Amino acid sequence: MTKDQLKKMVGWAALKYVKLGTLVGVGTGSTTEHFINALGTIKHQIEGVVSSSDDSSNKLRKLNIPIFDLAEINFLDIYIDGADEINPYMQMIKGGGAALTREKIIASIAKKFICIVDESKQVDILGRFPLPIEVIPMARAFIARELVKIGGMPEYRQNVITDNGNIILDVHNLRIVDPIALEKKINCLPGVVTVGLFAERSADIALIGTNKGIKTIIK
Ligand code: 5RP
Repeated sequence: MTKDQLKKMVGWAALKYVKLGTLVGVGTGSTTEHFINALGTIKHQIEGVVSSSDDSSNKLRKLNIPIFDLAEINFLDIYIDGADEINPYMQMIKGGGAALTREKIIASIAKKFICIVDESKQVDILGRFPLPIEVIPMARAFIARELVKIGGMPEYRQNVITDNGNIILDVHNLRIVDPIALEKKINCLPGVVTVGLFAERSADIALIGTNKGIKTIIK
């Protein structure tokens, strides 16, 4: 099966975790796009969604799925999203689609985070995929220097401005053996909006698309 077929398989499989009549947190990316298409088939049976990016909101709008403002919501049962890497502790690197900040906010509010990935995203140690960091533009050079001090090789993501008006630094050359400690350390740098390490708030369930079918991992 192609990678996209594996993504489609988990995107549609996530539908069974959606409780009818509730609000659903929706992530960003090509795997999530399959989930959005699946959600469109039951749109009259859910209250609506909260969206993690303008990109996903556009796709949701095309399917006439009602979108709610997270600022007006007190409770969210589930959040369904892809990842760039996931380790055996269900910690993830996210932000390949530059939507990490809103993704992290929604993931923090949701009772359950369901991660949908194809098997190529499974790793033992996070860091092969460059770690995305959303940064306030004026802090770009300062943050880059700080990242070099911790052994990373930051690269400015050309021509990308996030939905929040910031820039992205992708950090190469990291072997993240203690994701929670690194997440805290990078979060403390002034000018960092969000680091794409989802370690403290890891996934609760992972649906992994493999050539043998879907592997479900429950934390
Ligand atoms: C977007 C993300 C995505 O979930 C991640 O990049 C995976 O994307 P895809 O499903 O296209 O492989 O974090 O910011």
